[in-house]
This record gives sequence, C-alpha cells and structure tokens, in this order.
Amino acid sequence: MSETPSPYPLPQRRERDLSRRLLSWYDAHKRALPWRRSSDPYRVWLSEVMLQQTTVAAVIPYYERFLKRFPDVRALAGAKDAEVMRLWAGLGYYSRARNLLAAARKVAQDHGGRFPDTADGLRGLPGVGRYTAGAVSSIAFGRREPLVDGNVNRVFARLFARRGDPKAPAFQTWAWETAGRLVDPGRPGDWNQALMELGATVCHPAGPECSRCPLAGACAAKAKGLQHRLPMAAARKAAVPLAWTALLTRRAGKVLLWKRADDERFLPGHWGLPEARHLPSAEPGALLRRVTHSITHHRITVAVREAAPPSRTPAGGRWVPEAAAGELVVSSLWRKALRG
Ligand code: ADE
Repeated sequence: MSETPSPYPLPQRRERDLSRRLLSWYDAHKRALPWRRSSDPYRVWLSEVMLQQTTVAAVIPYYERFLKRFPDVRALAGAKDAEVMRLWAGLGYYSRARNLLAAARKVAQDHGGRFPDTADGLRGLPGVGRYTAGAVSSIAFGRREPLVDGNVNRVFARLFARRGDPKAPAFQTWAWETAGRLVDPGRPGDWNQALMELGATVCHPAGPECSRCPLAGACAAKAKGLQHRLPMAAARKAAVPLAWTALLTRRAGKVLLWKRADDERFLPGHWGLPEARHLPSAEPGALLRRVTHSITHHRITVAVREAAPPSRTPAGGRWVPEAAAGELVVSSLWRKALRG
C-alpha cells in the first residue's frame, strides 16, 4: 500500500498507524458496557472509581443500582453516608465510597454541581488521582490526557518489549510518558478506553490472543517471541497472616455491634463486631466459628467467640436487633463473622 509522503518523521507516522488500527478495532469490538452509553462526567467518574481494583463483571450491578438511586452528582451529594456505604457493600476498598461521597459534595458545593473539566481540576477532588483524572478528562471532556492502569502496563510492556516490573517507578515513568505521547488527539477518550479494552479482552495476562490483536504486526514482544514472558512478574508479596478475636454478644434478640474508629488500620469507620482488644474487660468464651478474609496482602483469620453482655454499653458499641445488623454492617469480613 502506498502512502502519501508525510511531513512527519517515521516514528510519528508509526504512531498514527497504531492509533488508526487500535481505534478501528475498538469501534468494531468494544463491549457494550453500561457506562459507555453516555459521556456524562458523573457516570464516567462513578464507573472509573468502581472499576479500580475491581472487574467489569463485578462492577456492572453495583453501577446500575447506584445510578438508579443517585442519578446525578447532586443526588449523591445529598445522600447519607450510611446509605452510600450500604450500596457499596461487597465491592471492597471502602475508602473509595467515602471519597466518592466527599467528592460529590465538593462538586455540589464548590463547583455549582459541575465537574471540573480538566485533569488538574479533577485532581482537586477527594479520591481522584492521576488515573481517574486522565480517564474522566479524556472520556467525558475530550481532553488529550493519558492514563495508565494495569491493562495499559501490560499492553505497553508487550508492544514495546519493555522489561522490568511494571510497578517499579522507572517503568511507571516510562509508561506515563509513552501514554502521553501516544494518546490520540482527535479521540483521546476512545484511545484510552481502547488500550484498556485490548488489555482486558485480547492482550490477556496469561495467553495473549495475538491472532485477534490489531497491533500484532507492530508488537515487539511478538516479534521476539516474548509475548508470554512479558510483562515481567513482580516478586509476589507473601500474604501477611493476622489473627483477630471478635466477640459475639447477644441479649434479648440483639447483638452488640461496634463502630471501628476512623484511625483503625483495617476497615476504619466500619460497623462490625468488637474485637477482644476493644473490650478488655470482656472474657472471650466458646469459639463459635473461624472466618478468613483478605485485605490487600493481609490474610486475616477471625476467631469469633461468645462473650457475656457487659454491664454497661461501651462507647463505640450499640445493641442492634439481629435481623437489622446487615443494615449497618457492610464489609464482607464482618458479614461472614456475623453469619451464624
Ligand atoms: N477499565 C477501567 N476503565 C475502563 C474503561 N473505561 N474501558 C475499559 N476498561 C476499563
């Protein structure tokens, strides 16, 4: 195929060629995801926050429920903390939900209900880092801003046969620079989504499907036969085992719940059971069950033990009818611990 002579040096022509191929592939193969029906910044932001560390399949029902209950940023800004936490229950990484609400309130109060339309402006909102700012500014506002997530790291590591641990600072600096250079000026939001989509649906962590890849002809890892060996796996951090003792105290159909302090290391601000350390005068009794739960790279084993009701309700504690405990308790760890 002959090409019109280009005023650009070769690397730029190559980059435009990558863009064309990837965007055509995206137009033909992108998944019909609910947040792709609109470029409303509220919806884009909500979906991008939910998708952090969480799979598309897990996010979809949460996204739909959330949007039904809070159709716009003002509705969310007016919500009670507890209701937002309830709707988030099960998605994990609960600081995202707290930041979400704080950011909605800030948009409503300080920005007249409109999201800032630049990456820098967006970064002034709680919970919005470089990735989310890049995603919302490019997808909702058409800004030429890059983004890098785990999928983009993998696609780049293979496309450019880049060695090294993708989490290492040197790799990250390179990946953000590369993303900034490549982001398509005409369709930045689609370009960013196309890169992530390619990583999620074709350039899989294990077993990339190069026969379906629009960039296979340009892929340095494929040319060198390294597509199964890149990106290099980071040394896996061994899970840190932790043992907790939780106290289950019942009285007249009620259970003693405990609101964890905001400076707790794990699950701050969550309702659950008191741990033995929270009630030093309580005597842990018979073992009722043992449950395990992972939080980041910690493997927590909770021994749930019976305890006698304290003479006075401790500060931080509340007697709650057993049937209503699920209203307050949203974390999977405490739900498992309570389930008898
Ligand atoms: N992962 C996170 N956000 C995404 C998006 N908008 N498209 C594809 N994958 C994603």
